[in-house]
Amino acid sequence: MANVTFSSPVMANNVTVYAVAGHRGTILSVAKAHRIPIPFDCGDGECGSCVVQVKHLSGDGVKYGIALTEKEKEMLRQLGKITPDEIENAEVNDMPPPYRLACQCFIRDEDIMVTFEGDQTMPGRKPRMSIAAAIFKGGQEIRSVDQFIAYAIKVEEEAAIHFDELGAAMEAVGNTEVADLFRQFAGYSRLHYEEAKSLAGTADLAALMPGDHVWPDLVTPERTALWAGDPDLSRLDALKAALQGELLGFEFYHHIAETSPDPKIRSMAKEFVKEEGEHVAILERWIEREWAQRRSAAE
Ligand code: FES
Repeated sequence: MANVTFSSPVMANNVTVYAVAGHRGTILSVAKAHRIPIPFDCGDGECGSCVVQVKHLSGDGVKYGIALTEKEKEMLRQLGKITPDEIENAEVNDMPPPYRLACQCFIRDEDIMVTFEGDQTMPGRKPRMSIAAAIFKGGQEIRSVDQFIAYAIKVEEEAAIHFDELGAAMEAVGNTEVADLFRQFAGYSRLHYEEAKSLAGTADLAALMPGDHVWPDLVTPERTALWAGDPDLSRLDALKAALQGELLGFEFYHHIAETSPDPKIRSMAKEFVKEEGEHVAILERWIEREWAQRRSAAE
């Protein structure tokens, strides 16, 4: 018999379960059977969201939990959760590394302590919850993969329009550098739009598309009301409008990635979160640079 103790800051107390022979399976399967909320998406060693720390509690120094597959090793390496020494120790001395993928690590006949945190593959930054995301939290929920794709198509389509408008405004006043940046962002959004459309395949998503009434101010998260076709929009204002749009999109996808009960929807939303997070970081750098230029011009 193996005692498996789960411990996490997301749980009120540690929970110990008994994994009897013949019903052991992976750490993830035992966790799921006992409603232990280890994050996971793919269930197949591909995404890294189920990373856990495993402490072997038997005092005899014998560890049975090894069987580190190439797939698990590679993912742990990508996550920075295994060192070259630990890999060698696993291969040469059969010593298990401290971090494992819960979906790949099988429970053996030994007591272990499994510690986990939130999803390590999500950006650390927590979103400030926008009205758009709050609506999804309180009422509307994405109930199917098709519905998620329909919403993503709409959000990305409008993001492309938003960036085209901002790009045109910057071009009109000779700010070609910022105009080029916005055109690039419009291109990314079009790419996401095409990706979402190809995910939809031949499915008719028209009935699942969000109506304008779904969003606050009648604009999708990425098409912000801050930019209202102002002809005097400064370079800094345009960057801020772009940032606001990207932040709202980031929050929208982040909320779905964190709360959807469907692992496939969570996994798809996370892809968008990562890219939106990168766009937010780029715009923040541009804004910081703009401020710095203004400060030095004022000196
Ligand atoms: S759930 Fe994706 S690696 Fe385990």
